Order: sequence, then structure tokens, then C-alpha cells
Amino acid sequence: MAKHTVVTMPGDGIGNQVLPEALRILKAVKFDAEYVHADIGWECWCREGNALPQRTVDLLAKHKLGLFGAITSKPKKQAEAELRPELRGKGYSYFSPIVTMRQRFSLDTCIRPCISFPGNPLNFVRKRPDGGVEEPFVNVVVFRQNTEGLYAGVEWTDPPEQVRAALATHSKFKPFASVPGTDLAISVRIVTRNAARKICKAAFEWAKKYGYKSVTICEKPNVLRETSGMMEDEAKAVAKEYPGMVLWSTNIDAQTMWLTKNPEEYGVIVASNLFGDVISDAFAGLIGGLGFAASGNIGDGVAVFEPTHGSAPKYAELDPPIVNPIAMFLSAVMMLEHVGEAEKARRIRDAIAAVVKEGKVRTFDMMRIPGGVNAIRQGAASTTEMTDAVLAQLKLRSAVSEAQEFAGARGR
Ligand code: NAI
Ligand code: MG
Repeated sequence: MAKHTVVTMPGDGIGNQVLPEALRILKAVKFDAEYVHADIGWECWCREGNALPQRTVDLLAKHKLGLFGAITSKPKKQAEAELRPELRGKGYSYFSPIVTMRQRFSLDTCIRPCISFPGNPLNFVRKRPDGGVEEPFVNVVVFRQNTEGLYAGVEWTDPPEQVRAALATHSKFKPFASVPGTDLAISVRIVTRNAARKICKAAFEWAKKYGYKSVTICEKPNVLRETSGMMEDEAKAVAKEYPGMVLWSTNIDAQTMWLTKNPEEYGVIVASNLFGDVISDAFAGLIGGLGFAASGNIGDGVAVFEPTHGSAPKYAELDPPIVNPIAMFLSAVMMLEHVGEAEKARRIRDAIAAVVKEGKVRTFDMMRIPGGVNAIRQGAASTTEMTDAVLAQLKLRSAVSEAQEFAGARGR
């Protein structure tokens, strides 16, 4: 029996292209696992009225480890319109399966590393005052609270009377009190002390484990006094347990404005749900964008790893597939680290780094060309060719290390 069972959820669009490629890489490093397919996403919604079917929830509950590609989601009205005719008007309502999965399994810690690969033509470069150009090494890991904040899902258009009445007890609600219900949309931002403490603690632990010198709490406590205030208070309380570590506090707006000024100075960043989503995308932009942005959603029992990108429908039908599978590979790398296979994780990361540095095999995004049918003709690597290049590096490196071991053994 294999040591691990991974629930694979390719989902929609390019999720179906990149996930199988990641499995090829995992097999090459002899990850001792079996893989169980699970359905998720838009197709499920249209067919069954549920984007996250119970059978998928059951598989995740059983095996605790998931690798996820991407899903398509669409606005409410379109969701209703694309539902199988028999299911329409029966009270099915679309909700993001990823958000549901995060809430269902309390995947409250989202980790998004944004670390540049030297030689990546998409790396952020900055002009020096003397006109020269410099390429700061970005090594940031964003910890995003994954289950609360503005994504808690507590929201209404035309809120019920009790909600309006409760809101009316707040003096700041006065200007909105006479707005007709159908013209009033409300999303509630919820922060609980335990969850705030937990995400801050996870951020500091990571910083300690991987030798980062600072943790930055990125919120907006001067305006969102209660929710961001609680996040900041908890970050300060946790910081006391880590005497060697510096805690910085930045505002989300200022942090994005200064993003390109000194990204190399940041280490671990911790934020509530929406702000973490924003700032991790922002930093991902500095290290190559969606083709390089991986993430892990970690709960107490279950963990699911996924590239940050979506299903990119406009590229999903291209044959051969052209999208960059590296974000998916890096998600698999995070999964390996999570289950204690650090050595296999390091080997894959090194192989990716070597391919990027060599620069011979580049997907269209790395060439900064449009990703249409002509991309391959213009010299872009296909998704499979990128995988092949990483596999070749893995093979080369293991041959070299075997030869070194052999030479070492002879020398002894
Ligand atoms: P997207 O991430 O699918 O695509 C945005 C653009 O990024 C693409 O047009 C493409 O140029 C580029 N891109 C994405 N992945 C790439 C890759 N691996 N290699 C090269 N380039 C890549 O986001 P978009 O277009 O906003 O949404 C498309 C669908 O995906 C929507 O239905 C959306 O709801 C869903 N989505 C799902 C997510 C998830 O499953 N986690 C996250 C974001 C969007
Ligand atoms: Mg996002």
C-alpha cells in the first residue's frame, strides 16, 4: 500500500492540463502515493447543481490530502442559466467550491510563497537613480487567513429586517438607514480572536523555521479599527513569543503602493482574507505572475494545495496545451513539504530553477507573447514540453549525484 493517498481535483479548464503534468513530476521523484480522482467545479454545478459534490467532500475527509487544479466560476445569474434545465428554479444556488472547501474543512491557513527564480524573464526589475537596472531577489511568503474576513460569506442584498434593525443601533449606519433594501448590499467582515491568533502564530512559526527575519502584519487598523485592529493586536501578542523576530505593520493600500520600492526587504507577511488575497497576488506579480504562484490551504486535519491561477478558459481548448505548469508543480512541492518529503520537494524546486535559469524552454507567458494558437509557432514551449524539461533536469541531477556518490564510495 502506498504511504500517501492524494485526492486529485483537476476541476475545470486548464486545471485538467496542469494537474496531470504535476503527477508526472511526482512520479519521477518516486513520491510514494496513490491518487484518487474527485470531481469539482463548473461542470459539476451545471450537471448536479453542486460544484463540490458530497463524494468529493467524503474523499477529502477520508484521505486528508488534496491537490487541486482550478475551477471556473461565473456570476449568479449565469450560474442559474447554465444549470441543467431540470434543475433550474429548484432552489440551487451557486457558491464557490473552493471557498466552501476552505470553510467545510477549516482550511484556515493559506500559504502563498512568492520567491523569484533567478533568470526568470518575468522577474521584477527596478531602475536605479543612475539609470541602471537592478533585479531585487523577492523572497516573500504570504500567510492569509482563509476562512473569515470579508470572505466569510455573510452577505445580503436587501438584508432582512432584523439585520437592518441591528445595524440601525450603530450611529454610523444613519446615512444608510433610508436606502431601499433592494439598493442595499452588505458583506460582513468577521474576525475572531482565535483565528487571528492562529494565522499570526503560523506566520511566525514559518519565519522561525525558514530563517526569515521579519513578519509584517498587513492590514488597515487606522480605519478598520475593530477587525484589522484585532489582527494587529494578535500579531503584537504573538510577536512577544518570538524575541529575535521583527514585527512590522503596514497598511494594505500603502503596502501595494510601495510594493515595487523595496520588495526584497519583506519576509513573511500575514493578513486577513481579502487583504491576503490582494497582497499575495501583488507579490506574485513580481516573481512571474500566475504561472509561478502556488498555494497551500492548511487546516488541522486536511490540506489542499493549488496554483493561484484560475481555469483560464481561453487557453483550455488549445491543443497542444500551452499554459505554464510551474505554479502547479510548485503547489505539489508545497504538498511534499507538508507531508515531510522535504528532500523530494527540494529536488523538484532545484530542477525547476535550473530550467528557468537555462532559459531554453519557456512557456508563452515567460516569453511575454500572447497565448493564442500561434504561441508554439513563435517558439513557446507547450505545457508538456515544460514538464519534459523539468523531468530531464531531475534525471540529469540524479545521475550526477549518483556518479558523485559512486566516486565518493571508490575514494573511501
Ligand atoms: P485565470 O487565472 O484563469 O486567468 C487569468 C490570465 O492569467 C489568463 O488569461 C492567462 O493569461 C493567465 N494565466 C493563468 N494561468 C496561467 C498559466 N498557468 N500559464 C500561463 N498563463 C496563465 O483568471 P480569470 O481569467 O480571471 O478567470 C477564469 C476563470 O477562473 C473564472 O471562471 C474564475 O472565476 C476562475 N478562477 C478560479 C480560481 C481558482 O480555481 N482558484 C482562481 C481565479 C479564477
Ligand atoms: Mg485570487
